[in-house]
Amino acid sequence: MSRLRAPRWAALAGGLGMAAAVLGACGGTSDTAAPVTSNGTLDGRGLYAAYCARCHGGDLKGTTQGPPFLDAIYRPAHHGDASFLIAVKNGVRPHHWNFGPMAPIEGLTDQQVAQITAFVREEQQAVGIR
Ligand code: HEC
Repeated sequence: MSRLRAPRWAALAGGLGMAAAVLGACGGTSDTAAPVTSNGTLDGRGLYAAYCARCHGGDLKGTTQGPPFLDAIYRPAHHGDASFLIAVKNGVRPHHWNFGPMAPIEGLTDQQVAQITAFVREEQQAVGIR
């Protein structure tokens, strides 16, 4: 009995050691694919990628789930920055396209929505939507 136990404990300890080593390796690196600011939080581009891109497109050109932001409909004069905050907080009833409604997006602060909006505005300006 006790002769069987020792190897089992040894195997368990070995497994834990390996798990700790893997965790240690992950925690120590910062080479994540998403853009991050110097203090490690996501910037506007990274937040957009994490929360909006799956419907509005990684290139802001839309998907089958949501409309493109690189469209004159979303120029600042027609959809001001406030409409982004309202869309995230309250969701959107479809009115321009046929994608259906947008559900509210959970987990973003007003400040983070402002960062996303600023990123979208930069990308719009880059293609002449202003
Ligand atoms: C699950 C898909 C989905 C996600 C995720 C999503 N959207 Fe939308 N979004 C939509 C759809 C669908 C519409 C409705 C388009 C229409 O008017 O017909 C929309 C519309 C909008 C509008 C236009 C609002 C208006 O007043 O017309 C804004 C602004 C917007 N989304 C911002 C965002 C932002 C910012 C994020 C990320 C934080 C986001 N969306 C994430 C699907 C999505």
